[in-house]
Amino acid sequence: MNIVRWEIREMYSYGRGIYGYILDSLETTSPTYQTGQFMTVLLDYEGAIYRRAYPIYTVPGIDDGLGILVRSDTHYSFEAHIHETWEPGTQIFTYPPTGKMLLETPPDEGRLIICIAEHPFSASIYPLIKQILHTEPDSQIHLLYQSPNEKEVLFQKELKALQTAFHMHFRWESFYTEPHYNPAQPIPHRQLTIETIAQSLSDYDPSDQGIQVFICGSNQFTRMAVVAARITGYREDILRWQLFSPDIITAPAEMQPQDEYKITLYYGVKCYEFYSRPDESLIDSISHHKLDIPYSCRGGTCGECAVIVRKGDYIMTKNEVLKTQDLKENQVLLCTCFAKSDLEVCFPNYVYLSLGDKLMWD
Ligand code: FES
Repeated sequence: MNIVRWEIREMYSYGRGIYGYILDSLETTSPTYQTGQFMTVLLDYEGAIYRRAYPIYTVPGIDDGLGILVRSDTHYSFEAHIHETWEPGTQIFTYPPTGKMLLETPPDEGRLIICIAEHPFSASIYPLIKQILHTEPDSQIHLLYQSPNEKEVLFQKELKALQTAFHMHFRWESFYTEPHYNPAQPIPHRQLTIETIAQSLSDYDPSDQGIQVFICGSNQFTRMAVVAARITGYREDILRWQLFSPDIITAPAEMQPQDEYKITLYYGVKCYEFYSRPDESLIDSISHHKLDIPYSCRGGTCGECAVIVRKGDYIMTKNEVLKTQDLKENQVLLCTCFAKSDLEVCFPNYVYLSLGDKLMWD
């Protein structure tokens, strides 16, 4: 994978601990990107090279330069280090832009894009909305946005400007979990839940051509929104959620090629069976078998590939995302996991569905 060198041209604050960095490529051929993609930054931090995927919040063809958004409220010391050391003129290294939360070619007659976003993880939603409104005069946006209160809305100023300019095409529903008290104009407490999302999604026919659902939030929020969409009849192929950047993980030295192990993988309503060598990560085996399952960074950082191990033995070589409690629950990252026996694993959305195995296995 090529490494790209950039220089920071400008930086902007988008709230407490949230900064946007506008980058100029220092390569002879500047890498192209698509709206909704991510970029993985390589950073030398405390003696090790770290990778972190950050959303690109600019729109090609509309904005000048490529901007990534970095929040310091997660992985605190790492992102805080970025904010302390990056400034205009700083050179940084990244992998090329990537990610699968992309707008596909629009249908001839316009389309409906439903965006479900949770503050402050909503960075990828804003450029998608911006591109649609600027380039598709016949399309509609319906944004469901949850934040603590009316002041904490990522890209609030920018979204309001879009709403003013494109008021016939942009419907924005706000959900405030801790609204500020204002006796003159009380703001109700509202939360995005399976029920409230399903209720909003029920306004539309999920079988309509051109309808798509984009989801941006924490892992838990995203899974919940995906479940809400599924039970409302929205097919898997019209749902998108944020993804990060691929990478390559090598097998630990003790894992020698030998007999393959049988892997049984439960995902959504599907059950896959395939074989994996002990010297290849499960995500590599999955890629060889062309199985359609979620993954993104392939480097143990984004958590998209987290599954629960139900049976079997394995080794996980890298983990920067699963917490102690997750590990206690036998969660593992497919991208950094190598089988040491036959394995049975399932994606956590199996748990979230919790409508009974019937839905899973039918
Ligand atoms: S794909 Fe990102 S942690 Fe595995």
